Amino acid sequence: MTEQDDTRLVDSGADSEDTAVEAALRPRALDEFVGQERVREQLTLVLSAARQRGASADHVLLSGGPGLGKTTLSMIIAAEMGAPIRITSGPAIQHAGDLAAILSSLTEGEVLFLDEIHRMSRPAEEMLYMAMEDFRVDVVVGKGPGATAIPLELPPFTLVGATTRAGLLPPPLRDRFGFTGHLDFYEPAELERVLHRSAGLLGVEIEPAGAAEIAGRSRGTPRIANRLLRRVRDFAQVRADGFVTREVAARALEVFEVDAGGLDRLDRAVLHALLKLFDGGPVGLSTLAVAVGEERETVEEVAEPFLVRAGLLARTPRGRVATPAAWAHLGLNRR
Ligand SMILES: Nc1ncnc2c1ncn2[C@@H]1O[C@H](COP(=O)(O)OP(=O)(O)OP(=O)(O)O)[C@@H](O)[C@H]1O
Ligand SMILES: [Mg+2]
Repeated sequence: MTEQDDTRLVDSGADSEDTAVEAALRPRALDEFVGQERVREQLTLVLSAARQRGASADHVLLSGGPGLGKTTLSMIIAAEMGAPIRITSGPAIQHAGDLAAILSSLTEGEVLFLDEIHRMSRPAEEMLYMAMEDFRVDVVVGKGPGATAIPLELPPFTLVGATTRAGLLPPPLRDRFGFTGHLDFYEPAELERVLHRSAGLLGVEIEPAGAAEIAGRSRGTPRIANRLLRRVRDFAQVRADGFVTREVAARALEVFEVDAGGLDRLDRAVLHALLKLFDGGPVGLSTLAVAVGEERETVEEVAEPFLVRAGLLARTPRGRVATPAAWAHLGLNRR
């Protein structure tokens, strides 16, 4: 996700405040990384084996939605390998030459973190294929018929690619990773552990029921959990004695309009219109968007994905339909 300022408290992308505080909240070792048991076990094996062989680890692809821990894991990989890390991203690499400059300055065993790898340009991608497979790049010097390719040997390195859209990666690129870790949404109990850990680091006193209250509203996403924790801390500091109980957390998130299911004002407006104005649907997307006074894209891309994931709304060929759970969620009786 790009770093943008967003007024939505439940957006899974990073805003500027997140960017500023996340570094402090990032787990630094694999056993501090909460949840994702399978990926963690697989990575532990891949990294220990490489360490035993005294070699750099195979290339790793991390896929999963915003805020689920891809950047965090990439830094952990470097730390576990005792290797330096170089950070760049697909959009930052416009020309193959940009990539050649980075690759040719890597040191042996270094981890190259390539965020948003699906947004890299085609020529850069092709250079990356060769670098990943043969640890070599061809640097083209000159233009036209006189251009020559000078092969350049690279030291062994580990590429860690991250993407929110694994499906957009061309198969030849995907195939060159030795290991792909897919990050899923977190269970509430896992988010509670994230919250206790973050509270400890931020010096926030929180009781287990307070953490549970925040976890339930965090949409399965550690970044959102950490952000809600900061708003709850504000509330606890100003309106209570600083201690986060279940009640303090619930009251705080009511003020910030994040409900018990993690829905914010926009989500609820969409659901409300669907139920009250269209009797639960089916209704077309454009009509629904007009009813809530939003752009079609906003409803479709910002509100709907979570409503669908939460089992509150379904997209059907005839239009949007509310599920029985939607009526229950808004406390309405189905007519
Ligand atoms: N498994 C985890 N345990 C503890 N904290 C986590 C975990 N995963 C993520 N976090 C926290 O969530 C925040 C966001 O994680 P991170 O930046 O790694 O997400 P990302 O997948 O790279 O997101 P994006 O797609 O937006 O780049 C980090 O500050 C980190 O503290
Ligand atoms: Mg990231």
